[in-house]
Amino acid sequence: MAAPFNPPAADLPGKPQVTPWVPPPTSKLDIDWAKLRTIDLSLLDSPDPKVVQDLVDTCRVAIRDDGFIFLEDYGVSIEQLHRQFDIAQYLHQHISDEDKERLHWNPDESGTFAGWKPMWGWRKEKGNKDNIEHFNYYQPQFESMDRIPTCMHPFWDEIVDFCNYLTYSVNKRLLKLLSKVLEMPDDFLWDLVQSKVGPVGQGYFRQALYYASDEVVHAKGQGTRMNGHCDFGTTTMLFSVPISSLQIWGRDEQWRYVPYKPGALVINIGETLELVSGGHFRATRHRVVDPPSDQQTYDRLSIVLFQASEGDLRMEPAYQSPLLQREGCFDSQGAYREFKRLREKGIPIPTNREWREVQIADAHHATDAAPRDTIVMVNGQKHIQREYMGVNILLPA
Ligand SMILES: [Fe+2]
Repeated sequence: MAAPFNPPAADLPGKPQVTPWVPPPTSKLDIDWAKLRTIDLSLLDSPDPKVVQDLVDTCRVAIRDDGFIFLEDYGVSIEQLHRQFDIAQYLHQHISDEDKERLHWNPDESGTFAGWKPMWGWRKEKGNKDNIEHFNYYQPQFESMDRIPTCMHPFWDEIVDFCNYLTYSVNKRLLKLLSKVLEMPDDFLWDLVQSKVGPVGQGYFRQALYYASDEVVHAKGQGTRMNGHCDFGTTTMLFSVPISSLQIWGRDEQWRYVPYKPGALVINIGETLELVSGGHFRATRHRVVDPPSDQQTYDRLSIVLFQASEGDLRMEPAYQSPLLQREGCFDSQGAYREFKRLREKGIPIPTNREWREVQIADAHHATDAAPRDTIVMVNGQKHIQREYMGVNILLPA
């Protein structure tokens, strides 16, 4: 059995008292929720091969049809998880103005989201207010305390251990399960694809606060808080929260809210895994919008770990996978189809690092102007069309 999370004590000398995070009420409205499948990760350790095979079969269907799963029994208790929400809330209540300026992010130039994102848009200069703040911790933040907010210093041992556990226990086991779906050796995706340096590899940990929308923000974004997009890494590990704002784009071309599942991780597949799996795993479009009407006055605290692939690799489908050999590749979707088109023309496909950095540098919030976007209609639906490094991307608007 995998060892459960065993974090440093919250009451060690020198740690300030934190105000407990109080989960806001869930929506009581009658909503057509996204119906995601649940994976109990502890079953991967079962001595019964039938139990493990059933888990693999459920996972195969879930990531092919939805690209999103709920992960349960992964080793972190709900009390331990709420402690991390307490710490994230403390960050947003106590980060100093000096640290906000000193640690200000600069995605345009760095190609990363590292540092403090203020609530007024994506750019260094003051843009449109979007009411979203976050702090993003990349590997350089884990190498030097100078790069993290001073108010997080007392809790740094807990944050580091939490990220290490998510990467080296939870995500490693999850990639083992996904390798089994590909019918490859258990360590295939972990050894070949996942970046493994420090607590977050080449990915990052985010403590985000979506302040409730106000009239200005709502008018600018028309209810959208973060534009529709696919994640570019291996897996995204988002902790389920009571405020329903995440929506996913279903195969029936409808946006649906993801419901709250206390203690669960909402996992979605990034484009790297879509490419490696030959399209058998789906990098599903998703966005963040205003919550249902009975939750619109609440702030939404969010914790995410974005797991990344090794940056220098150019991803190829795992043609040696018995699943791919038997069923072929699916070329009907997103990044997989576009990368295939480049390969067939003899054009080098982007490395994983190039792919993520070009998208980060161009990212913007719903309230920002987006001069690069071309709007096209597909099946009567408005879509955004963009081109990065010869790769055409089509996203539902
Ligand atoms: Fe995302």
